[in-house]
Amino acid sequence: MAFTVAIDGPAASGKGTISRAIAAHFGFAHLDTGLLYRATGRKTLDGTPALEAAQTLVAEDLQGDGLRAPEVAQAASKVAAMPDVRKALVDFQRAFAARAGGAVLDGRDIGTVICPDAEVKLFVTASDDVRAERRWKELTFKGHKVSLEEVLADLRERDRRDSTRADAPMIAADDALQLDTTSLSIEDAVAAAVTRIETRQAELAKL
Ligand code: CDP
Repeated sequence: MAFTVAIDGPAASGKGTISRAIAAHFGFAHLDTGLLYRATGRKTLDGTPALEAAQTLVAEDLQGDGLRAPEVAQAASKVAAMPDVRKALVDFQRAFAARAGGAVLDGRDIGTVICPDAEVKLFVTASDDVRAERRWKELTFKGHKVSLEEVLADLRERDRRDSTRADAPMIAADDALQLDTTSLSIEDAVAAAVTRIETRQAELAKL
């Protein structure tokens, strides 16, 4: 049976970590939809037109550490504002969400556009400073030479572009559980998400 968990939120809010933990806990498949936009954005940096890049994505394009680079994140956020690029990626995401055995998808528009009927929706946030610090640690650990100020500026610029675009802007669905990980630990955020999912599973079992 399909069971979809939609997790949205801004950059470095903790949604990836929470998604992976939930997928492992329930044995659900996980799709980081940001990778689709990052892989598309990366191809545009080589000169491929954005729509062609989105239409020709293959599984190998979603692998490799290069996708985490700050310039790829910026390119991702630019192609993500193009309606035809978003449209080219919809079917794959919906098919993934509908797979038997349950699926967790994380991104910006999962609970609003891709899976508006998801059984559980979460919107994960954190303060700009906390998010910048987290992302700076991740990037420096991977060997990227960036300052905290540059990371903060990148997050703010992408958040602004992602939340003001006309098509599928980043916004919490009305029925999403909001989790602010500024002071809530990731463990507590995961525990809150697990409880929400178990409650929903129990409700569905009664129908
Ligand atoms: O990891 P981080 O939160 O920094 O970003 P990401 O989830 O990998 O997404 C990279 C970019 O892809 C975002 O800044 C968005 O512009 C775009 N994106 C989107 O528009 N819709 C999604 N469902 C996922 C990502």
